[in-house]
Amino acid sequence: MRRMVLVMGLIGSMIGSTIQFIAEAPRRTQPQLYENETAVMDTGAEEILPGAVWLDTDGNRIQAHGGQVQRMPVPDGTGGKRMVYVWVGENKTWGHLSNPVSVYTSEDLIHWECHGDVLRTIAEREMLDTDPYFSEVYAGCSAEEKDRIYDILHPWRVVERPKMLYNEKNDQYVIWFHSDGSTEFNEYLYDIGMAGVAVSDSPFGPFRLLGRYRLNECPKGQIDCFPASKGEARDMNLFQDADGTAYVIYTSENNKTIYISKLNEDYTGLSADPADAVYGEDYVRIFPGAMREAPALCRGEDGRYYIMTSSTTGWMSNQARVWSAEEILGSWRNEGNPCVDKGASVTYDTQSTCLFQTETGQWVYMGDRWNSMNLADSRYVWLPAEIRDGKVLIPWKGAWKP
Ligand code: DGJ
Repeated sequence: MRRMVLVMGLIGSMIGSTIQFIAEAPRRTQPQLYENETAVMDTGAEEILPGAVWLDTDGNRIQAHGGQVQRMPVPDGTGGKRMVYVWVGENKTWGHLSNPVSVYTSEDLIHWECHGDVLRTIAEREMLDTDPYFSEVYAGCSAEEKDRIYDILHPWRVVERPKMLYNEKNDQYVIWFHSDGSTEFNEYLYDIGMAGVAVSDSPFGPFRLLGRYRLNECPKGQIDCFPASKGEARDMNLFQDADGTAYVIYTSENNKTIYISKLNEDYTGLSADPADAVYGEDYVRIFPGAMREAPALCRGEDGRYYIMTSSTTGWMSNQARVWSAEEILGSWRNEGNPCVDKGASVTYDTQSTCLFQTETGQWVYMGDRWNSMNLADSRYVWLPAEIRDGKVLIPWKGAWKP
């Protein structure tokens, strides 16, 4: 079954990815050409080696692809909270499809403790009734609700780019992810194009899936780049502003246009129903038709908002681009390619997933170096970044201390 899923997944990812153009993408046929390709970061590691095999504190490979790192409060075990770095991402141990969402924590960004799969995918429908874990998480759900949950998390579904927010108002943790799969009309694995949402009282789970949703649509008077399918949500990220307002940033209109949509107070849905949403207040469309994905948004110390994106070439790397804006729902300015060293035209063979700041103020670019032939062996490339004066600068560094 797993092998069939893997084969279908590979075929799906090949025909399913929107290939805008064939990028100058190095293939991993000569791994020795990549710095750190054979290096291992284990419990003795003292530096980040971008592109190395990265092991957790139990000695297992870290599985948290398409992820996000942030410093956030987590339960301290005595009823209080402590601040720690939390890494959430896709567990790709079994390949492309049905990736559970995993969580790791760290004090120093180098050594990561695994907290397991916090949002689990579901192998068989009957497990929602018979498996003690799922019976408890989905207790109280009707048979129809369980059918719906299974339909989102079953072995043929896509669960990608999970991100987490902590909501101080109700002490709840919320995960958003790209929920996809084929439909009765189309076997393309990315035909559903929705945003999945799950909640928990703890970042360590268990997260309970609430559902999956289509989001805001191109307003009247603007040119919709894919009117056949309204409100799509694919590669995504979350951003929490200093005042607590949170946003979901995602690619829509068949990967042609990025949207930024404001979330409600609980962070579990949009600030307004798409039918009532006000353009410029509840959401904004940026770069219509530019075909960007893998968005990572942050706010610099200069108060500007920055978004880094990739082009849309499936698992192959391509050139990154940054835009900046004074207002998150305002107008965005093209700031060009943030990468400056050899490999800059393909983002050092990575795709963006997060820009975060360390406790000491260092910005970090977090990218995935996908290995489409063995997605579980995709590597993490983290690099120190500079963000200021409307620019993001990401030089290459083969080894560095955060
Ligand atoms: C590019 C996206 O950024 C990834 O998350 C994944 O969906 C691949 N496409 C699949 O081809």
